[in-house]
Amino acid sequence: MCGIVGYIGKRKAYPILIKGLYRLEYRGYDSAGVALLDGELKLYKTRGKVADLDKMVNGHSAEGTLGIAHTRWATHGEPNDVNAHPHFSQSKKLALIHNGIIENYASLKSELINRGYHFESDTDTEVLVHLIEDIQQNERISLEEAVRMAMNQVIGAYAIVLLSEEQPDQLIAAKKGSPLVIGIGRDEFFIASDPSPIVEYTKDVVYLEDDEMAIIPRSGELSVKTIRNQEKTPYVYHLEMQLSSIEKGGYPHFMLKEIYEQPRSIKDSMRGRLNAGKGIISLGGIIDYEQKLVNCQRIIIVACGTSWHAGLVGEYLFEDLARIPVEVEYASEFRYRNPVIGERDVVIAISQSGETADTLAAVQMARSKGATILGICNVVGSSIARATHAGSYTHAGPEIGVASTKAFTAQVTILSLMALLVARKKGSLSTSRYFQLLAEMESIPALVERTLKVNDTIVGISRIFQHAQNFLYLGRGYNFPVALEGALKLKEISYIHAEGYPAAEMKHGPIALIDEEMPVVVIATKKGSYDKVVSNIQEVKARKGIIIAVVTEGDHEVRSMADHVIEIPETDEVFVPLVATIPLQLLSYHIAVLRGCNVDQPRNLAKSVTVE
Ligand code: AGP
Repeated sequence: MCGIVGYIGKRKAYPILIKGLYRLEYRGYDSAGVALLDGELKLYKTRGKVADLDKMVNGHSAEGTLGIAHTRWATHGEPNDVNAHPHFSQSKKLALIHNGIIENYASLKSELINRGYHFESDTDTEVLVHLIEDIQQNERISLEEAVRMAMNQVIGAYAIVLLSEEQPDQLIAAKKGSPLVIGIGRDEFFIASDPSPIVEYTKDVVYLEDDEMAIIPRSGELSVKTIRNQEKTPYVYHLEMQLSSIEKGGYPHFMLKEIYEQPRSIKDSMRGRLNAGKGIISLGGIIDYEQKLVNCQRIIIVACGTSWHAGLVGEYLFEDLARIPVEVEYASEFRYRNPVIGERDVVIAISQSGETADTLAAVQMARSKGATILGICNVVGSSIARATHAGSYTHAGPEIGVASTKAFTAQVTILSLMALLVARKKGSLSTSRYFQLLAEMESIPALVERTLKVNDTIVGISRIFQHAQNFLYLGRGYNFPVALEGALKLKEISYIHAEGYPAAEMKHGPIALIDEEMPVVVIATKKGSYDKVVSNIQEVKARKGIIIAVVTEGDHEVRSMADHVIEIPETDEVFVPLVATIPLQLLSYHIAVLRGCNVDQPRNLAKSVTVE
């Protein structure tokens, strides 16, 4: 996710642009840049935060009433000055900013290189601006038409704003998959990723739809059409929301926003990597190490916290689907216990921030012992990502809430893709089962969207248990890591003590805790050892425990014995963690809010534990 801002009108552009970037910094903050047109096209950009860009520009005359600006969340190319947006075309007469992922950028880039184009950055965005210029020059057509033709060649998600030195009275925008909103002022227009940079100037906005583009004049009428060249009459909304609520996209907390982003973030994790119809999984980042994974004698997954829970799901996936032995290690323990590691071991390091000290140290230690190291990180160019041999980024976008939510489901998505890819190569899955799982995987974002509708049920349950002193979370098989993750979510943001346990293990001690004060969350979805979980529920009920059951839609058996039931859509057992986790995230969120806790920044915690 990135933040983009544009302005054209009668005012000085820079103050509007830089203030807009500050408002959008939650969308990405590893590098920033601005392009201004004041006779000539000037471009300033730098690795770092918006404040670093502001400092850089303040030494120059940031004149001009037309400009575009960008704060980046790297998806292609490390965060550095060169990869920051805006990007120039070859002639340096066009400047482009982009939020999204161009899936076919590699093929477009090689064609352009063959036609003599040179690239300064590693980004997919630079490919786009060169493509637009190439089409305009070769076809001798208007810039607007060149943009339209280029967008018809692009596969992926984009929100772009283009500025031309030779056309000082217009900006061109286009949108597919990433948000873009245009503010309509009096003889001025504002463009941004969301209304927060716009709402103080005007509350009249147009939301571009997918496959639409806009020609934005200095004054006069906004023109909108589809990339198939059909004119559209833009619908003008009048915003009611207040600025304070907008910076979180209208949500009260970043955590809730990120919980609700999961249909999109899971989709973005799969974008360009899964083609269920053709049975293709392509993880470009590990392409050179696929055989290593297929032939390895063992996979060791190292991580901390929620990422460790994702690793546990990975253990079930790789062993179940690819028949490879897996060990999941707390990085903090693994790094010090002098483990036996060989060259036939593959270590997978999982980290949202890519900066967790223990995980980084574990990676460095394992690499020094000759293991192959793969990474699953959310921050491009982070220390752990750079310490591995190869890896796959989760593309979940910035996760601001300290309690990890969308990063977890994105990590599990990547692990699912890796396990299925290796299983296919090893032939450990039948063709029919393989295609069935790929088709089911494509449906996960929609199932997660449907699962989010349990929110009101969860609010009701949260009100009942907001004063509980302890919780127990139970699950079996693929749902055991889900139980651990649900317990971690609750304790880290509501400060209620909670423990996750394998459901069968409850009888070996924790059952002594069960009484009428103890809420027990049981993930009892239809697949796997369902009957055994039903027995565990009965054991809890026999001791007057309170059952909050997460069940598959239409389940009547558990409903008849549970005190509270949360229904989730049915999916294949291997993908249940992606769906069953959602209600547990919501449960911890609403209980924490009811308890007046600081949900986004819980006490004693930090988003990235960069110390031992
Ligand atoms: C999860 O909600 C916590 N914030 C914490 O456990 C986190 O998962 C852990 O610190 C690992 O962080 P990483 O994924 O950035 O390495």
